[in-house]
Amino acid sequence: MVTGKWVVTSAWPYINSVPHLGNMIGSVLSADVFARFLRMMGEDVVFVSGSDEHGTVIEVEARKKNVSPVELTNSSHEYIVRLWGLWNISFDNYTRTENEIHKEFVRRFMLKIYENGFIDKREQVIPYCPKDKIYLPDRFVEGVCPYCGFEGARGDQCDNCGRLLEPEQLINPRCVLCGSTPIFRKREHWFFRLDKLEKNILEWVTRHDLLDENVKNFTKSWIETTGLAPRSLTRDNKWGIPSPFPGSEDKTIYVWFDALLGYLSATKEYFAKLGREGDWVRYWLDSGAKTAYFIGKDNIPFHAVILPALLMATGEPYVLPTIISATEYLMYEGRKFSKSRRVGVWIDEALKIVNNTDYWRYSLIRMRPEDKDTNFKWSEFVRFVNNELNDHIGNFIHRVLTLIYRFFDGVVDDARLTGSADLEFRKYVDEVWNSYKSLMYRARLREASELIVKLGERGNQYINVKAPWAKIKEDVNDVKNTLNVGFTAVLTLGVMLYPIVPQSSKKILEILNVREERVVIAGHPIELVKLPHKINKPEQVFTKLPQSLVDVLLNDFERERYLERVRNELNNERPEVLRF
Ligand code: MF3
Ligand code: ZN
Repeated sequence: MVTGKWVVTSAWPYINSVPHLGNMIGSVLSADVFARFLRMMGEDVVFVSGSDEHGTVIEVEARKKNVSPVELTNSSHEYIVRLWGLWNISFDNYTRTENEIHKEFVRRFMLKIYENGFIDKREQVIPYCPKDKIYLPDRFVEGVCPYCGFEGARGDQCDNCGRLLEPEQLINPRCVLCGSTPIFRKREHWFFRLDKLEKNILEWVTRHDLLDENVKNFTKSWIETTGLAPRSLTRDNKWGIPSPFPGSEDKTIYVWFDALLGYLSATKEYFAKLGREGDWVRYWLDSGAKTAYFIGKDNIPFHAVILPALLMATGEPYVLPTIISATEYLMYEGRKFSKSRRVGVWIDEALKIVNNTDYWRYSLIRMRPEDKDTNFKWSEFVRFVNNELNDHIGNFIHRVLTLIYRFFDGVVDDARLTGSADLEFRKYVDEVWNSYKSLMYRARLREASELIVKLGERGNQYINVKAPWAKIKEDVNDVKNTLNVGFTAVLTLGVMLYPIVPQSSKKILEILNVREERVVIAGHPIELVKLPHKINKPEQVFTKLPQSLVDVLLNDFERERYLERVRNELNNERPEVLRF
């Protein structure tokens, strides 16, 4: 088995709000599915992320709520960590940007690239709100995008064309807190010399075969249209990592540069906790080690340009991103998720509405926006659970297993296949397994999940055609063969389901009497058993959403009332800072 070292990461969620379903599929859930898949394939995986807790957004939020920033982030970090548990996220280390190892790591890293000549001091004009009397963070200034003319562009980035911006580039800028026109004041700041690495980045992106088109195109067009300019890396904030450059003592590191390095420091912290201090280096500096990033598309510039540039600037052979899987947006019933307007579903609410983690995981992967924006619709959610998981997949599994149990006391025997239907379906199972593997290795998670549904459908057709219940009297051997092939398909399905719906997959594998602590597949799932093999008594693994619930979920009026109730209940459990 050729396996290797992988660091799998998901974008570090901002800690000032509960992630919604769109955030979940864009980062943490996708990364978890990928990490679980790799582990199942025998790869050596470290899966890390953490809370992104610095920056002015939090500072202002804390000021509004009259608490210190760290009080705010302590309580929400704890709450969010609990949610990862409920969603079955298999992080090896979920940490936070306030941890000491991280802060120390960032300061040293920055000094290193400073010494290498990639950071220098310049004057910059910074928006200052005369009414609120603070320097405004980039995203607190809004105006018209100079590139595409979009009205609501923020000072850090335009949500329409995705370009990174500086606040003073905005046309008709205004302070988002009070609406007044900011004054631009001259301040000294330290800049990261992205311009010096433009050639290297372009070359790296151009040569990178595995990079998705959306990532490649974005990066190339950025370089071609404006080039890479130096980016300011310090801020006049209190809340953040103190800047380490000589003369910059009153400043902090810009939150993005801080959080990006979390991928490395979290790996370092993970091994430190295991008492294997130095081992993190083997995942970040050994040639052949790989890294995968799961992010929303607005994060592309940071992961495809800034992070690799930071790594290059060290002059050390850091592993550059192998996979950057950037999802498009998930919409909610045709609208944008919005906390202020309460459009959407947040991940703690979801589990109160339908208390089955696997159903949520499955549905989100099925609607993962891999190529274009997709829409969360309640009717689709119901279809994924009742129709796909239950009727196609669950039903096929249950049929095969109960037949094996009924006709052969649960024993699956070896078979010599000659019938064309058997051979064909058996071949189909192998094809599906191979395509699944290669799609999953490329992080095409939704496409891979499509194959699971297809295999369930084809399996049901196969059983219908073979009708073992009608043949058992006249041709036992044929029934044996059918159930041998059926068993192979069910086992393969159980394995393919594992990364996406781990709890249900575990139940399936238990019924199949595959009782390994951790399933690792060398070649084909069938290698997990030796025939003849006895299975356990079958049970339904999936159950449909009850009709009474479906009726509520599909009726706009009743659903809103139900969601309202759930939200009110939840607000008592949420720490105050996360309440709506
Ligand atoms: N907090 C950012 C967001 O939600 C993502 C940070 S990704 C990191 O958009 F790599 F910088 F951590
Ligand atoms: Zn724009």
